[in-house]
Amino acid sequence: MDRLRKYIALFLAAALVAGIVPGQTMAAEGKESKKESKLVLKIQKVAYTRRTCQMVKGTKATLTVKTGSIKGKKKIEYISSRPGTVAVSKKGKILAKKQGTAKIKVTVTAGKKKVSSWMKIKVAKKVKPPVFNFKKKTVKLNSGYQMPLNGLGTYSLTGDTCVKSVSAALERGVRLIDTAYMYDNEKEVGKAVRESGIPRSKIFVITKLYPDQYDNPEQAINDSLKRLNIGYIDLLLLHHPGKNDVKAYKAMEKAVRQGKVRSIGLSNWYIEELQEFLPQVSIPPALVQNEIHPYYQENDVIPYIQSLGIVVQGWYPFGGRGYTQEMLSDKTIAKIAKAHGKSVAQVILRWNLQKGVVVIPGSSNPAHIQENTEIYDFRLSPKEMKQINALDRHEKHDWY
Ligand SMILES: NC(=O)c1ccc[n+]([C@@H]2O[C@H](COP(=O)([O-])OP(=O)(O)OC[C@H]3O[C@@H](n4cnc5c(N)ncnc54)[C@H](OP(=O)(O)O)[C@@H]3O)[C@@H](O)[C@H]2O)c1
Repeated sequence: MDRLRKYIALFLAAALVAGIVPGQTMAAEGKESKKESKLVLKIQKVAYTRRTCQMVKGTKATLTVKTGSIKGKKKIEYISSRPGTVAVSKKGKILAKKQGTAKIKVTVTAGKKKVSSWMKIKVAKKVKPPVFNFKKKTVKLNSGYQMPLNGLGTYSLTGDTCVKSVSAALERGVRLIDTAYMYDNEKEVGKAVRESGIPRSKIFVITKLYPDQYDNPEQAINDSLKRLNIGYIDLLLLHHPGKNDVKAYKAMEKAVRQGKVRSIGLSNWYIEELQEFLPQVSIPPALVQNEIHPYYQENDVIPYIQSLGIVVQGWYPFGGRGYTQEMLSDKTIAKIAKAHGKSVAQVILRWNLQKGVVVIPGSSNPAHIQENTEIYDFRLSPKEMKQINALDRHEKHDWY
């Protein structure tokens, strides 16, 4: 027994000298066992998460290093492991030079103490914001597919009402339908699409996976395909951020490769959520669907999403049920509508289009559905756009 103890003590001493005791190894990686010496790396103004950061080719960023309580005069060194992809200056300024992945090593020395940490940088190619084609009434997604600029939202339309509303929309030239697993009407949407007599390729169907499906996303995608029964899904979105959302998105990426889904995207993702999410996935979202209306305008979020080459689509264009009456009686918009011989609803939809936002108003009324398509024969002046922009109350009409 004594001899065994002696061997263990000898082994530990040797390991300490060779630097293979866990705490020592981790220190070389910048995760020293003593918490106070930990390095925290942050890239300002661009996406980063868990030491992975995404930058767009040609952009610059600053790396911020938090050194915890490493005492003494500090010296910080930056080394880029693939200098062709990014260039790092002595002051931690990064330039994304070429598409690809690079690693940056940061070493802090203070006295005899030396702590290092790595950060991965993914450089994506520079993208152009999406451009609306008002003549064709479509926009080209970053997946290469064309999508109509106006559609029908089907939230709260169920059973026969849903079939009738989607059929009425398709008969009136609407070619974009928005549904979701959560709306419990994918079957009805599919039925109306199949029975319309319109070639499948001319109709664009969006559906969404709900967070309680993110744990088993393959099954959820197959179930949606089955319920819709229209061959493929044009655009599949994650309905909300949630546990396992990256896992679910990766299953959607797989479904794209399998030809089950053509394009993928997100819903209810804002700037911070996108910055956290994007570096973790391979196929950039084609579209983000968020709450947007004159009283909740997201004027900071919309240009940010568009700058990533992602199309923005607005939900609750009329404020959502319970709020529509107030919004559709708005005096400022009513005055603008009168000047153009249009309805308030049409002006709101047109305002969205001119901001580069795709619209999916919900309706079960064929007259309203028709009215909501007649938004291409007038144009709001910059002054009128400004007047509606000034109505923003940052007033969210739903919790997400
Ligand atoms: N991703 C998400 O989290 C999320 C959340 C909410 C909604 N959505 C999507 O966004 C879509 C739009 O939202 P929503 O349908 O809830 O609300 P909405 O489009 O803001 O408002 C729908 C209401 O407006 C009325 N309406 C429609 N057109 C009209 C017109 N021309 N004149 C007067 N009233 C009119 C409708 O009544 P009538 O039926 O009488 O026309 C209905 O009561 C949804 O259907 C859904 O597809 C997505």
